[in-house]
Amino acid sequence: MKNNHNNQNPSITTLFKLFNAPLHISNMLSLMLFFIFGLCFGIILTFQLKNVSFNLQFTQFTHFSNTTIADVSNLVPPPPPPPPPPPPAKVGLRNYLKAPEPMHDMTDEELLWRASMTPKVKEYPYDRTPKVAFMFLTRGPVVLSELWERFFKGYDGLFTIYVHGSDSSANVTVPEDSVFYGRRIPSKDVEWGKVNMIEAERRLLANALLDFSNQRFVLLSEACIPLFNFSTIYTYLMNSQHNFVESYDLEGPVGRGRYSPKMAPTIDIEEWRKGSQWFEMDRDLAIEVISDKMYFSVFYDFCDGDCYSDEHYLPTFVTKKFGETNSNRTLTFVDWAKGGPHPTKYTRNDVTPEFLEKLRNDRSCEYNGKQNQICHLFARKFTPHALDRLLRIAPKLMQFNL
Ligand SMILES: *[C@@H]1O[C@H](CO)[C@@H](O)[C@H](O)[C@H]1NC(C)=O
Ligand SMILES: *[C@@H]1O[C@H](CO)[C@@H](O)[C@H](O)[C@H]1NC(C)=O
Ligand SMILES: *[C@@H]1O[C@H](CO)[C@@H](O)[C@H](O)[C@H]1NC(C)=O
Ligand SMILES: *[C@@H]1O[C@H](CO)[C@@H](O)[C@H](O)[C@H]1NC(C)=O
Repeated sequence: MKNNHNNQNPSITTLFKLFNAPLHISNMLSLMLFFIFGLCFGIILTFQLKNVSFNLQFTQFTHFSNTTIADVSNLVPPPPPPPPPPPPAKVGLRNYLKAPEPMHDMTDEELLWRASMTPKVKEYPYDRTPKVAFMFLTRGPVVLSELWERFFKGYDGLFTIYVHGSDSSANVTVPEDSVFYGRRIPSKDVEWGKVNMIEAERRLLANALLDFSNQRFVLLSEACIPLFNFSTIYTYLMNSQHNFVESYDLEGPVGRGRYSPKMAPTIDIEEWRKGSQWFEMDRDLAIEVISDKMYFSVFYDFCDGDCYSDEHYLPTFVTKKFGETNSNRTLTFVDWAKGGPHPTKYTRNDVTPEFLEKLRNDRSCEYNGKQNQICHLFARKFTPHALDRLLRIAPKLMQFNL
């Protein structure tokens, strides 16, 4: 039984022996060495691991930032060097002075209102080079445009062109290098003698007034030609103290006979005037014309059709309200000698140097209170067939800027 008991607990006995037995000194030393070795191993291992993970993090981070930079720089090209700063300018004024494109989408009412605005301060706070507005009232295209191209050549900045073409045939493709490129204004139907002719003239004036540089305004047709070079015409217009709206009183059926008593009391028969449709005027008068509602509405109501308002509205209105500013003559030569409702047309064989010289020096006229050799600056009516001869003769004869 005792043996059995002993045999059953051999481990307890061994443990008892170990604690109770005196420990051998060499045994203790080897134990300590083992412990120190283990400790050192642990410390070294920990340090190594930390180092490795730190390195790992570091390389990962730099790798990430490297690829990020590479990716971003692949997507977005390097920004170009910043443009030089714009010169210090009166930006607000420059934007205000910029005329809108001729082909805008304003209604007539909006256009006339905008164009009627006028600065109360008369001096311009900037260098203003006055320009001449050449306003072409046509049916179709400007058929003599090649001659006008030659006329305008070399005078950029001194003129502006506007084209009111009432027919759909006026919507032609104009080469981009032409002075007529993009100069067509929103145009409406025009019938011979009808009041919508005046509306078209006011539309042209209003569009031209939107450019503050325009100082003189000439109305021309597709059948008009210049009689002098640009510098002569520019100087003549800019230095004139008067407007050129032909105006005279005429008895008989084609004069006072077109007056209607319904126009009284706004217009009396003594105030009724006649004159050529082809005018030239300064900025002040142009603003008055497009702002007029009173006289225009009388013509609108009582002078449509056989009344030929285009021959009476401006002469009557200008003479009554601004007569002292007017020369009462036109600058556009036309020949009515043959009689009838239409003036003489000039075609190919009519165009000779002698003929053009005659138109230039026909007679003298009053200009700024003195007699002047030049009477007409423009002439009509020239057909498209005359263009060839005009191109050959006129630039040299009139000393265009070749
Ligand atoms: C970033 O990448 C480029 C090439 O892709 C390599 O030459 C460069 O050594 C890398 N830079 C770092 C800090 O890893
Ligand atoms: C002019 O013609 C072009 C096509 O040739 C057309 O797109 C445009 O609307 C026309 N403009 C007018 C004002 O009729
Ligand atoms: C324009 O024509 C006039 C004559 O009418 C002439 O004296 C002048 O020299 C011409 N101007 C130019 C720039 O050719
Ligand atoms: C033109 O006619 C008006 C009105 O009759 C007059 O006041 C003006 O002096 C005339 N102009 C010239 C240059 O004679």
